[in-house]
Amino acid sequence: MKDSFLYWNKAFRLYGIQATLRQAVISISDPSNENLSTVMIKVEDFLKIFGVSDFQYKALEIEYQSVFSSVVHASNHPSGIKHDSGLILFSLIRICGLTRIYESGFQSGRSSQIILAAAHDSSSVRVVSSDIRVREIPLLLRHSGNFELRIIHSKISKFWVNLNLSLKPELWFLDSDNGFHFQLAELRAAAKHSSFIVVNNSHVSKACDIFAEESQFERHDFLDTNRVLTIFSRREPLNKAV
Ligand SMILES: C[S@@+](CC[C@H](N)C(=O)[O-])C[C@H]1O[C@@H](n2cnc3c(N)ncnc32)[C@H](O)[C@@H]1O
Repeated sequence: MKDSFLYWNKAFRLYGIQATLRQAVISISDPSNENLSTVMIKVEDFLKIFGVSDFQYKALEIEYQSVFSSVVHASNHPSGIKHDSGLILFSLIRICGLTRIYESGFQSGRSSQIILAAAHDSSSVRVVSSDIRVREIPLLLRHSGNFELRIIHSKISKFWVNLNLSLKPELWFLDSDNGFHFQLAELRAAAKHSSFIVVNNSHVSKACDIFAEESQFERHDFLDTNRVLTIFSRREPLNKAV
């Protein structure tokens, strides 16, 4: 969808759940994290914001289940993105019709495969993923002309400041080094390029809190098995906001 950030923000205004910083929480597998003051909604209720009916949600969920299980199988890695966080990422990309995605933190490609599978039009999607080390690349990614893996040689946060991206990503999925300085530098770099920033494990440092205060992005937090996934969505069109 063109102007997806406008659609996103309109939807949130319409349903009146953007009054506070911490708002929508999805599918609580483990609600033991008491530090979060959150409003809880289920995945299907969250997706209704985008006009997704129960029937469409079921179809989306069924498709995602098969993507997720094949990804877990192909990646052969105990770690990687969790089930519900993957569902949010998958749904957001599919529903908003996003086609240019940058990901930091490849590991063994669980989230990369979910992102690729989420694209509606598989011919126009472009996914660039980066990592400082790579051990295995699942077959599907090795043979996809829409996927590019970059090995980067820098662990320093300055790296993001000088990053030159021809991709112009609509969505930046941040799942790499979640140390405070690194994550904040990456968030600031992502804000220059993208309308959506999705942060996995955003609870680990205060970087998202600082970024939420200084930036013009709306913040939406989701709880998933003792960790938080945060979506930042741009309030203003990119050309005005930068
Ligand atoms: C949580 S894992 C990523 C999981 C992956 N997104 C998935 O779902 O399979 C974090 C990854 O970030 C990588 N990493 C650490 N520092 C990084 C950096 N500066 N830039 C890019 N990746 C980095 C690590 O090597 C590790 O593979």
